Amino acid sequence: MTLPPLLELDHVARRFLLPSGGSLEVLHEVDLHLAAGETVAVVGPSGSGKSTLLNLAGALDLPSSGEIRFAGEPLAGRSETELARFRNREVGFVFQLHHLLPQCTALENVLIPTLVAGAPDPGEARERATALLARVGLADRQDAFPAVLSGGERQRVAVVRALINRPRLLLADEPTGALDAVSATALGDLLVELHDPACIDPLRNHAFRNTDLEQKVNMAIRAILKANFNKECPQCSEIVKAQAKVCKHCGAEF
Ligand SMILES: Nc1ncnc2c1ncn2[C@@H]1O[C@H](COP(=O)(O)OP(=O)(O)OP(=O)(O)O)[C@@H](O)[C@H]1O
Ligand SMILES: [Mg+2]
Repeated sequence: MTLPPLLELDHVARRFLLPSGGSLEVLHEVDLHLAAGETVAVVGPSGSGKSTLLNLAGALDLPSSGEIRFAGEPLAGRSETELARFRNREVGFVFQLHHLLPQCTALENVLIPTLVAGAPDPGEARERATALLARVGLADRQDAFPAVLSGGERQRVAVVRALINRPRLLLADEPTGALDAVSATALGDLLVELHDPACIDPLRNHAFRNTDLEQKVNMAIRAILKANFNKECPQCSEIVKAQAKVCKHCGAEF
């Protein structure tokens, strides 16, 4: 039996309502299928919808139309509780800013997703967290608070936190964007290294997303998002170019 792709987006669109009326269509008919273990970079100019796409892939947001499936199961129709559980168990997120809790140590930050998941064996979770922190070069920094860590160290903690529940999908939205060149290179190398299935057992079978890594690994660029948005005419609902002043369908002026 062939397994379904890990992540499938079919005809996915995301429209945002504008305060002025009408809507801005950021994603239009996006199709993306991602197999377990596959690494994909999403590239496109600023504002082209990369973060919007990653948010949809990680169920932080829902599409306006189209379908998203994870391991063959649609995300649509799930309750908020089910989606929260899905995000906690199946998805690891790394953002441009680390979003570590300042009142928790590096180790405690890494353990938070295991508390949320109700890990059956807290001792085992702690052991794995310690091992992963050591794996990213932070063995002697696990009791440090985020305020005293460097930017690169904080992002490494964030990477470990994203991986602690062994998610099958890792979404990284410009994780090196706020780092200096040396730390960015080191974090990029680390992500590539952790992606090697032979590298460390708990990290097997991740699909990595990273917009900065495309030159480092041989990634297939599968979704190049368009820079020109569309919007919906508030009068006739026709989709027109975002910069259009007049609807080509009904003649309404914007
Ligand atoms: N909640 C929202 N409401 C209205 N517009 C939004 C919303 N979220 C995003 N947008 C718009 O959607 C477009 C795409 O935004 P997005 O953050 O996905 O771009 P991006 O490709 O990640 O850009 P960058 O490279 O700068 O991070 C932008 O024009 C943005 O203003
Ligand atoms: Mg973005």
